[in-house]
Amino acid sequence: MQVYFAPLESITGYVFRNVYETYYGGIDRYFTPFITATDSRRLRNKEMRDILPDNNSVGCLIPQIMSNRAEEFLRVADQMAELGYDTVNLNLGCPARTVVSKGKGSGFLARTVALDRFLREIYEKCPLKISIKTRLGVDDPEEFLEIIDIYNQYPVEELIIHPRVQKDYYKNTPNLDMFAEAVKRCRMPLCYNGDICSVEDYERIHTRFPEVSRIMIGRGLLTHPGLALAIKGEPVTGDITRIGKYADAVCRAYCEAYDRGSRCFSR
Ligand SMILES: Cc1cc2nc3c(=O)[nH]c(=O)nc-3n(C[C@H](O)[C@H](O)[C@H](O)COP(=O)(O)O)c2cc1C
Repeated sequence: MQVYFAPLESITGYVFRNVYETYYGGIDRYFTPFITATDSRRLRNKEMRDILPDNNSVGCLIPQIMSNRAEEFLRVADQMAELGYDTVNLNLGCPARTVVSKGKGSGFLARTVALDRFLREIYEKCPLKISIKTRLGVDDPEEFLEIIDIYNQYPVEELIIHPRVQKDYYKNTPNLDMFAEAVKRCRMPLCYNGDICSVEDYERIHTRFPEVSRIMIGRGLLTHPGLALAIKGEPVTGDITRIGKYADAVCRAYCEAYDRGSRCFSR
């Protein structure tokens, strides 16, 4: 089973990722919190700091881009290629009102014609592999059936599904019946994301979807940092000591970053 650390804006920046990897690890892919593609040529300083290879000591890091305009997405992807990345991830899942009101994140899922046009252009022109992180839709999980047909037309590197709709935010429970429908219909590799907070939660998903070999975990790894290792059959021993050292190291790393003037707290 491959385990990914979900992007959590304001939390899983490079300072956090590096410390987590040192004290726990067991993560096959980390994802940056979303980089907002704008019409400006330059990334914001905090976004640049987060993706600079020199600042990152984790094995595999995928930059995530939030955009609904192909030329802006492509410009950021080119910058990622220059830095040596070979894959980027497109955010089609963010439920925040400020994002959705601009037709981005999960808000883009409501405009299927525009989404299709956007995907056609980025998959034609982007020099990098593109994976997608998605919700099921905006209001109704059934929206996902049309969205799957759109995704299936493109060489999506992998599709990470958080099976809630935008209006759920983080309430209600992930819709496993619609995830099952995606397992049947999707042509690309799938990754399951949502509410895995214990080994038992993981086993429930794995038992129902044995063909899915990738999971992404966010909040569960914050509350139970040894969870990825436990899922992989390496239960963490001496956890009280380890968690104390880890918490100290997180604090120290943020203080050092603050001293360096990087103001990384904002992401
Ligand atoms: C505080 C917070 C920040 C998040 N930031 C991002 C983000 O930048 N990009 C993204 O794709 N998802 C983001 N998410 C969603 C998570 O990546 C993940 O999909 C969600 O938390 C469900 O997974 P979990 O139940 O394992 O936490 C965020 C979620 C939270 C709670």
